[in-house]
Amino acid sequence: MLKDIEQTTKTGFSKDFLWGGAIAASQADGAYNEGGKGLDTQDLRYFDSSWNREKRNENRNINMTSERFETALKATEIENYPFRWGIDFYHNYKNDLALFEEMGMKVFRTSINWARIFPNGDDENPNEEGIQFYIDLFEECHKKGMKVFATILHYNIPANLVVKYGGWKNRKTIDFYLRYAKVLFERIGNRVDYWLPFNEINAGKFNPYNGVCLIKDQEDDYESAIFQCIHHQFIANALTIKLAHEILPGSMVGGMIARFTTYPATCKPDDVMQMILDDQYSNFFYTDVMARGKYPAYMERYFRKNKVKIQKQAGDDELLAKNTVDFLSFSYYMSMVSTTDKEWAKASGNLVTGNKNPHLKSSDWGWQIDPVGLRISLNQMYDRYQLPLFIAENGIGAFDEIGEDGKIHDQYRIEYLREHIAQMKEAIIDGVNLIGYTMWGIIDIISCGTIEMSKRYGVIYVDRDERGQGTNKRIKKDSFYWYKKCIESDGEKLD
Ligand code: BG6
Repeated sequence: MLKDIEQTTKTGFSKDFLWGGAIAASQADGAYNEGGKGLDTQDLRYFDSSWNREKRNENRNINMTSERFETALKATEIENYPFRWGIDFYHNYKNDLALFEEMGMKVFRTSINWARIFPNGDDENPNEEGIQFYIDLFEECHKKGMKVFATILHYNIPANLVVKYGGWKNRKTIDFYLRYAKVLFERIGNRVDYWLPFNEINAGKFNPYNGVCLIKDQEDDYESAIFQCIHHQFIANALTIKLAHEILPGSMVGGMIARFTTYPATCKPDDVMQMILDDQYSNFFYTDVMARGKYPAYMERYFRKNKVKIQKQAGDDELLAKNTVDFLSFSYYMSMVSTTDKEWAKASGNLVTGNKNPHLKSSDWGWQIDPVGLRISLNQMYDRYQLPLFIAENGIGAFDEIGEDGKIHDQYRIEYLREHIAQMKEAIIDGVNLIGYTMWGIIDIISCGTIEMSKRYGVIYVDRDERGQGTNKRIKKDSFYWYKKCIESDGEKLD
């Protein structure tokens, strides 16, 4: 029988689309030594508010050194370690969730801090106070009508695991991670609606200290060490999926990358080939392993060519093949340009410095703004995997100022969100199964890359400066009211 094609065609966001906001524990919680929490690897990142832009960028790209790490382990002051104070979400979460509820948010994404559950990472028993904190936090979300999208690991691991075992390089870390995940599934369980074992699993390649907690000066073969760590994360990811499905049948466990939509600089075949390779190396390798369940041939060739050595154990390949993700998610801030021209102008960006695209504008931090790139990525990823997609992060870091009227008129953020959300709608009409959107840094937090408080993403302002000074008061920005209207209208009112 003929079917009316219009009836099955999507015209935009559905009523159950998950509109939300995201943060991460290390960037927001503070209270670094309260509630039984141990030191974690982000607590050890040093920042000096007198640094100029150049120094800040340089600091972002320099990986942790052994000397810095040792000094930070002993440091007791907090001013120069902003991840130790964040925005004190730990004590303020009830008020902050009330603001999210006022906006009508349907989902809240945050990460669980491993060092709150296992302060040293290798403890035999978990820290009950830490477990209770997350039970309370997630129950409060549900009371306020929000689903919970929990990242099990957003970069920071208990510092002791690096000191004693070398972190992700050591296969033992998989066992410690599994012990941690098991406690979460058993004790926090159904209070989480969507699980994400790893934030941006491709970050290890671009920022090895953040992504896989490697300290460069301790490595003889840095690249092999990076991919060894990533292999261990893939295995931990597969085992976590298995465990979640056993303990919590029907649970949704996703995979995530930092997605870089990639264009060729010109239509020269060499540029197009370069684009294909860059896209594979930066993006698809990670989603291919997590969603298709095996290392792709293009990567095996890359490893051979670059003499990258990875130790796999018997059974690893079967494990990856049997335990693939239920959905895919990604952060999206910008796109990239691939070229064979070494002289091509450069641009700044999330995790990586890339080639400049002359057709795009940039943010205050030089990240190239590309809403259409989001539609392209949504289509590419859905075509390739046919899995539900969840945009776990998207937003703009900017300098926000409180005006004379005491308000923050962040028209630039409204424009950024409007244009990206409009492209999401287009992708849904294209046929992409997009289930949710958690805007990044829904409330101002410490920047992960440059450790600055002045790089603000939120629709809620936090009165705190780069030295941690201020009232810590929350102020709704113009974008708060805009996002509220967008959610109320199911993404239809974007003006
Ligand atoms: C993502 C990270 O890569 O980018 C977040 O998952 C981070 O933790 C976000 O905050 C934005 O980067 P930045 O450096 O502006 O904070």
